[in-house]
Amino acid sequence: MMARAYAPYSEFRVGAVVRGKNGKLYGGCNVENAAYPVGNCAEASAISAMVADGETRIAEVLVMGPGPETISPCGSCRQRLREFAADDVPVHLCDPNGVRKTVTLGELLPMSFGPEHLETRR
Ligand code: THU
Repeated sequence: MMARAYAPYSEFRVGAVVRGKNGKLYGGCNVENAAYPVGNCAEASAISAMVADGETRIAEVLVMGPGPETISPCGSCRQRLREFAADDVPVHLCDPNGVRKTVTLGELLPMSFGPEHLETRR
């Protein structure tokens, strides 16, 4: 997924894979744009692939950056993951050599706002 990143502006290639509750893996990469704010993160691309396949629950997440700093999902992507993943879902933070650190989504985004907060309004 990293190899397929379209990142001509930052040259910072990111790959992400989410495992759906159905067991399938869905990959995505960052897709930048000449109008910089329009770019997509890798996590957003992976989530889109999963939802387009009909799955809406995430069991596990992997994000890979180029290093040497350990990659960490941006704030917006933490919230994007939150829509489809529980607090205890593992998020593997990787570089091309492997997993650098594994955290949970709840650690990345504590006290988060999610779909259940809107349930009484539906
Ligand atoms: N990026 C991701 O795709 N995922 C992350 O977790 C962090 C940042 C992308 C966005 C942009 O294309 C590039 O990395 C530099 O910020």
